[in-house]
Amino acid sequence: MIAGASHGAEEIPAMRDIDETNITAAVVEAFHGTPDLRLKAIMTSLVGHLHDFVREVELTTDEWTRAIEYLTRTGQSCTTKRQEFILLSDVLGISMLVDAVNHRMPAGTTETTVLGPFYVQNPPELPPGYDVSRGFKGEPLFVEGFVLSATSEAIADAIVDIWQADSEGFYDVQRSELAGSALRGRFRTDREGRFHFRSIMPTSYLVPEDGTVGEMLRATARQAYRPAHLHFLIAAEGHQTLVTHLFVDGDPYLNNDAVFAVKESLIRDFTREEPGPAPDGTTMDHPWRKLTSTFRLKCAVEENAAPQAA
Ligand code: BEZ
Ligand code: FE
Repeated sequence: MIAGASHGAEEIPAMRDIDETNITAAVVEAFHGTPDLRLKAIMTSLVGHLHDFVREVELTTDEWTRAIEYLTRTGQSCTTKRQEFILLSDVLGISMLVDAVNHRMPAGTTETTVLGPFYVQNPPELPPGYDVSRGFKGEPLFVEGFVLSATSEAIADAIVDIWQADSEGFYDVQRSELAGSALRGRFRTDREGRFHFRSIMPTSYLVPEDGTVGEMLRATARQAYRPAHLHFLIAAEGHQTLVTHLFVDGDPYLNNDAVFAVKESLIRDFTREEPGPAPDGTTMDHPWRKLTSTFRLKCAVEENAAPQAA
């Protein structure tokens, strides 16, 4: 407790002569009565870190004003279709850090990565083998996945939501001219835990740069590309929902993803196949690609593991 403050029936003298040496303790003290202890711990730590940051960089008044103005514009640009704050969290590595802290996966289960701003809840449920490309041009891709438990039992009736960018690097929700969804959908696994669909090869793409996040990336001369990937959100009874990507091996941005989301275990060979019979029974006139992958889900009751020693 800082000098002069007290609690209970005691009188609390006015806080005076606050300066850079005692303000942190004074603000922490102001949260003393927070009934939710988790909220109290979070606010106490947040205030300590923010104050230390201001002291460390000796933030000027002009810089503070610009930061407030930047965050205000970031909030004002958020809509139901655009979440600039999530994007800001992504490019600052916060999203991946929260993911890492919350998903210390037991050996053998599929690693997680960021959800990103382009997931749409309850996408259209599609029949097995459906072509999600909806006429978008690109190298044909046939995807087959198997959803298994950590102990390799097939999980039937798992919900598998998939979404990806087109060959110009845009998601359907970024194309205002497009009616309905494309390159996304929901599949269900069969008794073998299998799902499959047809699509086109995803490409590496720029994260949206026309907002406040783009301003920051340009001001700091940061590269803004993400390596090519497919997104998966897999939900199954008795298991923790898996949010992940599969990345295309050989992509030039695998080593410097703008949102720090690449994990070695999620990189796949999207194999090049010769013209001829395709998995859906059609005959391909041109080369095409194939991706086969298993996903192992963590049991719902499993605790998050302790952090690894450095
Ligand atoms: C995405 O993969 O869709 C994504 C993730 C983070 C920021 C921007 C895009
Ligand atoms: Fe993406």
